[in-house]
Amino acid sequence: MSSLDKSLYSGFVLNDLNNDFACFHGGAFFEGIGVEFDNLKAKDNIISADVLDAWFSPAPKIDEIINKDLEWIIRTSPPTHAEGLIKTISEIRKVSQDSVLPGSGSSDLIFRIFPYWLNSSSKVLILDPTYGEYTHILKNVIGCKIETFRLFREEGYKVNISKLARKLKNKFDLFVWVNPNSPTGLYVDKEDIKRLLADNQSCKRIWIDETYIEYLGKDKSLERFAEKSSNIYVCKSMSKVYALSGVRAAYLCASPFNIKELRVITPPWPISLPAQISALYALKQESYYFNRYNETNELRKQLVLNLEGLGINEIVPGVANFLMFHVPREFKSVSLIIKECRKHGLYLRDISTMGSCIDNAIRMAVKDSNTNKLMIQILQKVLNS
Ligand SMILES: Cc1ncc(COP(=O)(O)O)c(C=O)c1O
Repeated sequence: MSSLDKSLYSGFVLNDLNNDFACFHGGAFFEGIGVEFDNLKAKDNIISADVLDAWFSPAPKIDEIINKDLEWIIRTSPPTHAEGLIKTISEIRKVSQDSVLPGSGSSDLIFRIFPYWLNSSSKVLILDPTYGEYTHILKNVIGCKIETFRLFREEGYKVNISKLARKLKNKFDLFVWVNPNSPTGLYVDKEDIKRLLADNQSCKRIWIDETYIEYLGKDKSLERFAEKSSNIYVCKSMSKVYALSGVRAAYLCASPFNIKELRVITPPWPISLPAQISALYALKQESYYFNRYNETNELRKQLVLNLEGLGINEIVPGVANFLMFHVPREFKSVSLIIKECRKHGLYLRDISTMGSCIDNAIRMAVKDSNTNKLMIQILQKVLNS
């Protein structure tokens, strides 16, 4: 039976979703600003290093265009299927328009598509640790059988490709691979992934989440590989790499055949007008963003040195805009450090919920140079108090 034949969302296990069941997300910095936005100035006194929003501004052209026609942009319906944005993605990323499905952030794509593909008898493989929202949708919403591919602290949380190849022989309905992974920030090379997955038919579908891939530089994405494959889907958040987290834009890239099936469950106006405009112009400003990625790499290296200066030595050598590190036993517990940092306006992420094996570790976003210095000063104060 094809996915199109089954009744939509038959996989849901939670019919009475209420706030208690809402997807847990460890980002808490809005507590320091106020969710009713009555004093946005408060944002200047907090450091949101618990989420991985870009430290840099969206490309200047976006600001110029949105500000010029803001009133009209806010009250106007966007192109129904994000046609212009899809055309631009196709031109810039060199994939066909038929291979692209738009979404209001990758969260929208994940929550729209997974319940359509999967039900409680589906078997899904995810990394452990990995981005926590995947566990939520698979376990709490759909009720799938989840298997994990453990990444070990003793092995520096690296993905062991030959072990993974053996694991994948166990036939899965879906394998979710976040690359670079979160919270580790580690990356498996594109060519290794291609070799592993080229003829893999033991997984019905493979979902590669490339939320942070652009930080590695040009041409690291598997979008074009996915377009030619029968079972690979590459999920492209535009939040963290184009500084667009607030407007919500993303797209999925897969073969035209596979994308066609998913158009049926895609609503009209899947992306707001401010987001379509921002995403389209972001894609056209590649060189602006590449300069920011290079700067991010330098800022991250400096942050590593500064953390080492505090006596934090077990830092995972991530490649994106964040770092994961273990807090040495002689320091306070992670929960206490996080609590005390918040009193100084610094929000860090306790990542114990992101895997079964994470012990006393923190994930911290890379910020601009001054903010990084401030974060280190606050951490130093908290660790020494
Ligand atoms: C690995 C990963 N995937 C997906 C998302 C969701 O991103 P968005 O919905 O903003 O595209 C995030 C956000 O933090 C993430 O870290």
